[in-house]
Amino acid sequence: MPEIREYNGKPLSYVTGGEEEELGCKLFKKYELGKLLGYGAFAKVYHARDLRTGESVAIKVMSKQRILKKNLTAHIKREISILRQLRHPHIVRLHEVMATKTKIYFVLEFAKGGELFGKIAKGRFSENLSRKYFQQLISAVEYCHSRGVFHRDLKPENLLLDDDWELKITDFGLSAVSEQIQPDGLLHTLCGTPAYVAPEILAKKGYDGAKVDIWSCGIILYVLNAGYLPFNDPNLMVMYRKICKGQFRCPKWTSPELKRFLTRILDPNPNTRITIQEMINDPWFRNGYEEIKYPTDNEFEFKNSSEG
Ligand code: ADE
Repeated sequence: MPEIREYNGKPLSYVTGGEEEELGCKLFKKYELGKLLGYGAFAKVYHARDLRTGESVAIKVMSKQRILKKNLTAHIKREISILRQLRHPHIVRLHEVMATKTKIYFVLEFAKGGELFGKIAKGRFSENLSRKYFQQLISAVEYCHSRGVFHRDLKPENLLLDDDWELKITDFGLSAVSEQIQPDGLLHTLCGTPAYVAPEILAKKGYDGAKVDIWSCGIILYVLNAGYLPFNDPNLMVMYRKICKGQFRCPKWTSPELKRFLTRILDPNPNTRITIQEMINDPWFRNGYEEIKYPTDNEFEFKNSSEG
């Protein structure tokens, strides 16, 4: 992996407020830091080793200064409380949260296979493999929605693979819990990633968190099967217009059943867009779905920890 020194043309130190972590350094005498796995505007993610157990973990490092500057304190607190509640085989677990004067560290389950996006960049998936990952995604999304948790930034970069090539959703930094819903029952923050954003978010009219996640899942399914985006244009306004019209073409290898299913998901009208329950009953989707282990709360041990 080449050494990463820049982000958006700025020195990487800008991303985490000036201090760089060093390879091999010991964090809190508990974790030995390994290589940089990825980075974004507010965080860097490293591989690390738990010194007690020898197990691999991923450590997400965020600068407190940048969080405060961007008024993200509430977002981070929400991310912590959301991640702590979620226990599902297709969602990255949050093991612990640590902090220094300047930084916050999330110790996460390590997904050895890296980004699903990295695999897509190498081509496209067969219809069967697309279905398998889509079913795992929907199983996790249904689990979250039933707890009033909406991701709102579902895209291939937030989908990782573990060592068994099973899907794991990560990065709930933008997600909203149902308490944030306004009296009209809709969410109002403009967020998400342009190509994966639902038309009703672009229309800035307020939206239903479940419906926008379903839309993003539709874009992901299209990308898995096609290897490229359904709505795309170098000009952002043209891309937005295509999204709002909901007009897309499937590649020639897409089966009629999948084409029909995609049309039901990528319906620009959120009121007529397919629901998760309808998805689960769709003949294209259903194939082999019962084999996916869907956990119930009492299958897990819920304990309150004092970390963070
Ligand atoms: N990149 C971002 N988060 C990760 C994780 N939990 N495991 C592996 N790679 C990652």
